[in-house]
Amino acid sequence: MTAKTAFPPTFSPHALVRRVPGWGWQLVIALGIYAVVSHFILRAYENPDIRFRIDLAPYFAEPSAVQIHVIAALSAFFIGLVLLLAPKGFGLHRTLGWSWVLAMAVTATSSFFITGIMGDVYSPIHAISAWTLLGLPFGVAAARRRDIKKHRQQMTGMFLGAMVIAGLFTFLPGRLMWQIFFTA
Ligand code: HEM
Repeated sequence: MTAKTAFPPTFSPHALVRRVPGWGWQLVIALGIYAVVSHFILRAYENPDIRFRIDLAPYFAEPSAVQIHVIAALSAFFIGLVLLLAPKGFGLHRTLGWSWVLAMAVTATSSFFITGIMGDVYSPIHAISAWTLLGLPFGVAAARRRDIKKHRQQMTGMFLGAMVIAGLFTFLPGRLMWQIFFTA
């Protein structure tokens, strides 16, 4: 029988390192690319003064597809973090797992109503959305047939590959998330 743990679980960053070997390097590489691209964008704008503050006005000025996308993406990010860092046998895994699947599905689906990075056409990030929509049922199916190794691979791959990497690049200077938190 699986041991159940109380909520909130004891978080362990070490658990993440053990469960997803190599994730640290992926994150370091993504952060490096993010830093270089941000540097060039900011230089093109003659290095404006940057300070942290929260201004939700740009968020409310966006169309509803973007607003839904951001809420779903941030929900998926925080639920995913709890699922990944919680110890094995965490009691709320099933409930939070379904919430995460729903949040990811809404994030990916809503993105097909958003364009902008490449003008009016779909960008390569939409390929991540398609990959997510295809991957979610496979991840759920693996859990239902108790193939935990496959389930973990599918879900953590989507969390790190889609959520963390795509999410990080939404904070590039000039994009909406940047405007909310960092505009000078
Ligand atoms: C914390 C995570 C995320 C946040 C905060 C976020 C936020 C945003 C925002 C604000 C936009 C509107 C464009 C702009 O940035 O100005 C956007 C666009 C988009 N997002 Fe996300 N997103 C996240 C995760 C994801 C994920 C996981 C996917 C894919 C599964 C995704 C796919 C897309 C796509 C395809 C677009 C349209 C890009 C284009 O203009 O061509 N996002 N996202």
